[in-house]
Amino acid sequence: MKGIILAGGTGTRLFPITISVSKQLLPVYDKPMIYYPLSVLMLVGIKEILFITTPQDQKAFQKLLGDGSQVGCKFEYTIQEEPKGLAEAFTIGEEFIGNDKVALVLGDNIFHGNGFGSLLRSKVDVNGASIFAYPVKDPERYGVVEFDENNKVLSIEEKPKVPKSKYAIPGLYFYDNKVVEYAKQVKPSARGEKEISTINQMYLEAGELEVGVMTRGMSWFDTGTVESLDDATEFIRVLQNRQSTMIGCIEEVAFIHKFIGRDKIESAIDKYEKSKYGEYLRNLLK
Ligand code: DAU
Repeated sequence: MKGIILAGGTGTRLFPITISVSKQLLPVYDKPMIYYPLSVLMLVGIKEILFITTPQDQKAFQKLLGDGSQVGCKFEYTIQEEPKGLAEAFTIGEEFIGNDKVALVLGDNIFHGNGFGSLLRSKVDVNGASIFAYPVKDPERYGVVEFDENNKVLSIEEKPKVPKSKYAIPGLYFYDNKVVEYAKQVKPSARGEKEISTINQMYLEAGELEVGVMTRGMSWFDTGTVESLDDATEFIRVLQNRQSTMIGCIEEVAFIHKFIGRDKIESAIDKYEKSKYGEYLRNLLK
């Protein structure tokens, strides 16, 4: 399975913060936002990852993450000229995906929870599409999934004015290879974007959409607004300081899942120097 991180967009809801800096490079407590979705794909076991960014931000991502070898991965970069919608990830990434299955994570989504890693790894063999549902108090901001009393999916709608349920669809999606062909058929919505929800509707109509409800033990943040970015920062700060473990530490994920050995952690310690992040890696080796 290949992985794509969509890290383009204009970040207008965070202006003026994102006028000269990509949203996905902003700090979420002690590390750049992109580390969190990247660590999610690595937890799945995915090593080949494509970063889709705006033309002006590509260099900054490359400077931060390089070719991926430092975490035992292979990173590629490509651009999306204009933010015309999430479904474009699969047409822009067509060559990269090749004949494989693919996981897409949005660069501004943060996940954390007990058992999340094993839940993710169960999706590697997806046939059709596998997505999640998460109960929220403001579903109209998201893609929304409606279930019947037997948990059968009835509908998928993007940002409905009157949501049919409280279940938002988080920005983490697993697809088989058909997604590339489906993505080519997506027409822009009323707001002018090629919606990921249209792809999910296509899989639903084909009887090939699986939706897993994320339980209370899971946390999901979309950091698209100042408030939600601040909430995510606070969440990571409190949890990390209380538990003395890091969330979204890509070198740790790579080390635990045997993508890399001690030598690469030692190089990372040199790179991060005196930061708390470097100190954490030093303790990891102890
Ligand atoms: O966060 C989950 C939600 O993400 C889903 O529930 C929705 O179904 C999905 O449409 C999406 O909604 P948002 O309104 O939050 O999407 P946003 O425009 O904020 O873009 C999400 C990320 O993808 C963000 O990091 C910017 C990036 N992006 C967005 C677009 C539209 C791109 O890289 N290219 C794009 O064309």
